[in-house]
Amino acid sequence: MTSYSESQRLLAEASSCLAGGVASSLRAAMKPVPLYAASASGSRIRDVDGNEYIDYLLAYGPSVLGHAHPGLIERIHRAMQHGITFGLQHEGELALAKRLTEILPCADQVAFSGSGTEAVMLALRLARAYTGKRRIVRFHGHYHGWSDGIFTSFPSADMRVSGAVGGAADTILPGTAGQSESSLEDIILLPWNDEQAIESLLRDSHADIAAVITEPVMCNSGCIAPKPGYLEKLRELTAELGVVLIFDEVITGFRLALGGAQQRFGITPDLMTMGKALGGGIALSAVGGKRDIMKLIEDGTVSHLGTLNGSGVAMAAGLATIDELERNDGEALARMERLADSLTGGLRTLLEQHGIQGVVNGIGPVFHFMFVPLAEVTDFDAFSKRDSARYATFAELMLQEGVLVRPSGLWYVSAAHTEQDIAATLAAADRVLARLA
Ligand SMILES: Cc1ncc(COP(=O)(O)O)c(C=O)c1O
Repeated sequence: MTSYSESQRLLAEASSCLAGGVASSLRAAMKPVPLYAASASGSRIRDVDGNEYIDYLLAYGPSVLGHAHPGLIERIHRAMQHGITFGLQHEGELALAKRLTEILPCADQVAFSGSGTEAVMLALRLARAYTGKRRIVRFHGHYHGWSDGIFTSFPSADMRVSGAVGGAADTILPGTAGQSESSLEDIILLPWNDEQAIESLLRDSHADIAAVITEPVMCNSGCIAPKPGYLEKLRELTAELGVVLIFDEVITGFRLALGGAQQRFGITPDLMTMGKALGGGIALSAVGGKRDIMKLIEDGTVSHLGTLNGSGVAMAAGLATIDELERNDGEALARMERLADSLTGGLRTLLEQHGIQGVVNGIGPVFHFMFVPLAEVTDFDAFSKRDSARYATFAELMLQEGVLVRPSGLWYVSAAHTEQDIAATLAAADRVLARLA
């Protein structure tokens, strides 16, 4: 029987001085206990009880190169020796900004910050200032960080969908106590992947709407791909009606392709946000966009602030991550994709063999595994029918088998995973699904 006693002991001790016992609320959900990590390298992570896991949580996404990647560590170490952060400009900022403007199709310029939440805040501010309009369209089931201006209850069915601007169904529930309801007054919530809904809203109300923000793949609720033509339609409509199109590529950036989903799908938004994989595990996020929007920062129209923005360490981490992902013609991303394909294919086969109804939705090295009585999950309503409790049990049993997966069902594959890891993971899933069936 796997022991988690040391994690349990530390959690109890932390609960007296660390609010909730964890550093980010979501982490409290892990069963049987939120694990305490001792160390991690490559695709493996070890907890304080001496258990070792193949890691598909990957720190909720950032560890795209795997843990403790030697190239990344060496570059961060070298940067630290020159000073961790300066509060002055330095060549690292210039170098990373240049590389990103070459890599990201929509980015004539970039601006740096520390988290995906901050990048989204800046992108929304830029869109409002650029258009002189105030309302923002966002979609059911998408997540754009936890700032008051966009955080809705998530990913729950009690998010109300806006019928029309100012209409009766227009109230959106805040995501948390302490968040002013008025902070969401400017948000319009629509179902995603529904061309008619966005077209009729934008045609009626574009005079009030500054931006449409979307995850290009709905990674946060079921890894649902855009329907053929949907992102193209968003692009066409927003361009025609003077609305800024923002791709939130905090998950898809440096993952679906080096240039993100916009490169993979060939659709260029006006603004984009990146975070997670951008710093390979160091706090770093960015907004990229068209020059005429980004220049609002340069001319002082839009404030962009942050004490630690552009730190020497973060810039070195971003540059090293790009170098590693670009090495040998992008071999790492191609391998991640191949391994993810064999993992998702293997999981689908196992579901069939065990007679368990489930869906594995994936695109590139990020996918969602869920137990759901449906042949496919292509929208938020279908995603809401999944059996979360059963999946949490699956995740808990996988831990006992030496595989760490997020209790919600989202998996990441890193550049450090190997074919042996995938084979071991599928063998573990086989045993666990046999128990569940
Ligand atoms: C699509 C998306 N946008 C924004 C965020 C917020 O990023 P952070 O947690 O770094 O603030 C997340 C985090 O999961 C995300 O998935």
